[in-house]
Amino acid sequence: MIGIFDSGLGGLSVLASIASALPHANLVYLADTAHVPYGEKDDRFIRERVLNIGRHLVDHGCTLIVVACNTATAAAVAALRKSLPNIPVVGVEPGVKPAAASSTSGHIAVLATESTARSERLARLIREHAGTLQVDILPCPGWATRVETLHLDDPGFTETARRHLAPVLAAGADRIVLGCTHYAFLAPLLEPIVAGRALLVDVAGAVARQCVRLAATSAHGQGRLTLLATASPERLQAALPALGLNHLGTRLSGPACRASV
Ligand code: DGL
Repeated sequence: MIGIFDSGLGGLSVLASIASALPHANLVYLADTAHVPYGEKDDRFIRERVLNIGRHLVDHGCTLIVVACNTATAAAVAALRKSLPNIPVVGVEPGVKPAAASSTSGHIAVLATESTARSERLARLIREHAGTLQVDILPCPGWATRVETLHLDDPGFTETARRHLAPVLAAGADRIVLGCTHYAFLAPLLEPIVAGRALLVDVAGAVARQCVRLAATSAHGQGRLTLLATASPERLQAALPALGLNHLGTRLSGPACRASV
């Protein structure tokens, strides 16, 4: 069984890629909705949540853990790997490497939560893979919460996003990295803003390929999906159709449940 978690709905974008890459795997998705958003919390708090959730998923029978959250990966993936030495842990990091490799202008931008934006892990990722490029980091406060509330097609927000991206697009950034798993659900709104000037870069597909490499026996199951949330599990399940993920509903083993973590 593969355990996938995020602060809330964002990691569902990663879950969807894993589900299509591993159709027979049994998957558990845990949304820490009692504590979303992580992006405004301090590292210590996030680390504690990640360690508790990782342990909870292993106790649930998971043999591969996916931290489907850039913020949690930046703050705590190293600690999680240390605390679960026998379990493979896949983290999610902003796609700086593919963006840098494909940029023709030599200028990219990373959209991220405030926590990821200030993290040493992102700074290192940029040094290692985009050291010769211009890289702008754009914290996007409130964007993950917008996805949580499912307010995805508000014209007011489109205008906010347009203003947020205008300076980097005008300066020639040709790759815009979606450095938070929630932002994948904002892509339909962001695409028309960047069209003709830049491409959006998301890593859900690469994360799914890494899961295929590491899944071993976790790949073989009945293709079931269990949804868990630390608050309002019914909202997590109701979000599937709202986020265009109706097809995941067919894998559900039962109604979403509350997890006490
Ligand atoms: N989805 C998360 C990420 O990838 C975090 C969003 C949040 O809780 O602030 O960073």
